[in-house]
Amino acid sequence: MKILIVSDIHANLPALQAVLDKDRDCNNLIFLGDVVDYGPNPKECVKFIRENADYFVRGNHDNALGYDVDCNCIGTFREYSIATREWHKTLLDASDIHFLRNMPTTVSFQLDNPESLRDGYEDASFYMAHASPQGDMFKYLNQNEIAGELEGIIAEYILVGHTHVQYKKKLDYGMVVNPGSVGLARDGGQACSAVYEDGEIHLKRIDYDVKKTISDLMKSPLPQNVKDDLKKVLLHK
Ligand SMILES: [Fe+2]
Repeated sequence: MKILIVSDIHANLPALQAVLDKDRDCNNLIFLGDVVDYGPNPKECVKFIRENADYFVRGNHDNALGYDVDCNCIGTFREYSIATREWHKTLLDASDIHFLRNMPTTVSFQLDNPESLRDGYEDASFYMAHASPQGDMFKYLNQNEIAGELEGIIAEYILVGHTHVQYKKKLDYGMVVNPGSVGLARDGGQACSAVYEDGEIHLKRIDYDVKKTISDLMKSPLPQNVKDDLKKVLLHK
């Protein structure tokens, strides 16, 4: 049993394609929120998640676009997200918006896989949220702070995104995993993901065609300063 875990795609299709190409043999796809804002391909990325994600949760940017509210982002990223959101709204249709609005904020699921059992692996339990496991999709929690947000949550794998920083952290019981960001990593210029395979979590960092993302961004109607700043973030400069 192999599960691809992705988060924070942020409308970056070349990054998403690179992540998918790397692990084409996964049985399931998990998405931890933030499919829109920042990048040039919201329509394609929302369509992909709608059609392919087995389990998904809503991120603060999905929430902001879906409900036309603030994303509560930090610093200049708030300005970039407001600018890109106005553009993205023009590219999505009513059913996309309906989808974003109705993404759940937390999800639990259990693997029930005869193949895993045959191989000697027990069923694994998973819990997903965008930011805080308690369901607050805005809180920025590093890997040392997340343990304070686990009251009442029992799962072997607690999956979160939001910070765009990849890690896995063992707990007394289970593990917290943040796959990092597919489309706008803050800890390097690659596309990030995680793969669960028979009781192991593998963190991945994958080169992708960032020039294609940047060239599509440059053709957009965004203000020039936003395009230039997002280019620097994409290139990790
Ligand atoms: Fe995000």
